[in-house]
Amino acid sequence: KNHFKKNTGSNVVQNKIPDEGGEGDGDKVDLAEQSLLNKLIRHSLVKNRNQVEVQQADPNSPLFSVKTFQELRLKPELLQGVFNMGFNRPSRIQENALPLMLAEPHQNLIAQSQSGTGKTAAFSLAMLSHVNPDNTWTQCLCVAPTYELALQIGQVIEQMGKFCPSVKLAYAIRGNRMDRRVKLQEHIVIGTPGTILDWCTKYKLIDPKKITMFVLDEADVMIAMQGHRDQSIRIHRLLNKNCQMLLFSATFEDSVMKFAERVIPDPNIIRLKREEETLDTIKQFYVLCREKEDKFTALCNLYGCLTIAQAMIFCHTRKMAGWLACSLIKEGHQVALLSGEMAVEQRAAVIERFKNGREKVLVTTNVCSRGIDVEQVSLVVNFDLPVDVEGNADNETYLHRIGRTGRFGRRGFAVNMVDSENSMEIIKQIEMHFSEISF
Ligand SMILES: Nc1ncnc2c1ncn2[C@@H]1O[C@H](COP(=O)(O)OP(=O)(O)O)[C@@H](O)[C@H]1O
Ligand SMILES: [Mg+2]
Repeated sequence: KNHFKKNTGSNVVQNKIPDEGGEGDGDKVDLAEQSLLNKLIRHSLVKNRNQVEVQQADPNSPLFSVKTFQELRLKPELLQGVFNMGFNRPSRIQENALPLMLAEPHQNLIAQSQSGTGKTAAFSLAMLSHVNPDNTWTQCLCVAPTYELALQIGQVIEQMGKFCPSVKLAYAIRGNRMDRRVKLQEHIVIGTPGTILDWCTKYKLIDPKKITMFVLDEADVMIAMQGHRDQSIRIHRLLNKNCQMLLFSATFEDSVMKFAERVIPDPNIIRLKREEETLDTIKQFYVLCREKEDKFTALCNLYGCLTIAQAMIFCHTRKMAGWLACSLIKEGHQVALLSGEMAVEQRAAVIERFKNGREKVLVTTNVCSRGIDVEQVSLVVNFDLPVDVEGNADNETYLHRIGRTGRFGRRGFAVNMVDSENSMEIIKQIEMHFSEISF
């Protein structure tokens, strides 16, 4: 079930490198970076046809859902801001979450849905609607895992609040020094847990007792990061009991729920499960090879097919991906390389170019197999088969690389390179796994 394998106390996972050896060149999955990358490459809602599950704090109270933003009776200048962003109607999760967050008397909420389904936009709207701009103190506090993610949320609030110029926003992030003696006048403060805690306690820039809306975004990323969980709990303890508490997460593991239920009293819970990926419409092959050079030759033979539409080629390590991309370029092919040593912005730029069809072939490592859905990709090559830390078949990663969502999933092809008895064993494990679950 876990989307990422986590080390306790760290948000970085180092994959073991089976044959490429040495110096930590296997790619890392960093949850906060992954989340930021998703933000940078996504310009629209993720489609999800599943039903929203709602668990109400008070099962007797009526369950509201809205199909339009007008039904929410927002301030006209806020509604204008929403429409100005090109949002015509609430997303699936927003249909239920928005009326709940705006209801009087206020209610607490835990909301979970995959990245890209409109959570950040939802609570940004709730915060903007909540503040009274005539009160010149901080009323909404929003905690995010990293500096970059805090800025992303801030941009949404600024854009949505474009026609509400009297609502002010401040960033509680490292390096943002403030005059210590005067309380902030900004209505909304968004930042990382450590700095927010300092601003509330050490510098007394914010009176936590005056906070009436508290938002914890990306709770799953938060608890995977050293210190963030405890600092969030300490902030939470400073708040008034009747402050409205909202928590958002892309995943719904036990550890997330335990944390969520600790900081959100009497919660309403809204969940939107991600759409299942299937291999039904994907034709899968394997190619028997002797070694790396042999795999390369096989790939070159396939090259004409790769560029009919677009292709992604997965390698196990940065080193292998680098070697493969160089070798293909030497053969005169035009390929893009995406790997973990690149900064998130660089990675986003490579993906953007690929999405726009500037390159037709993308060579990449595991970091990139998640969260990227390039519509045009019709062929996936596993230059190295996906394996877990123990070297066993990693079925989940295989599905993520190759699978498609939706009942009318587009057709596609997958080619697996098999270069040893061990990898033959792995491909058999994968085949067995997916033939069993299809019964
Ligand atoms: N109601 C909506 N209509 C159209 N686009 C939306 C709507 N809500 C959000 N979006 C867009 O969808 C993308 C994902 O939204 P976001 O709030 O960042 O999702 P999440 O926080 O769940 O990852 C963003 O590009 C955002 O601008
Ligand atoms: Mg978000």
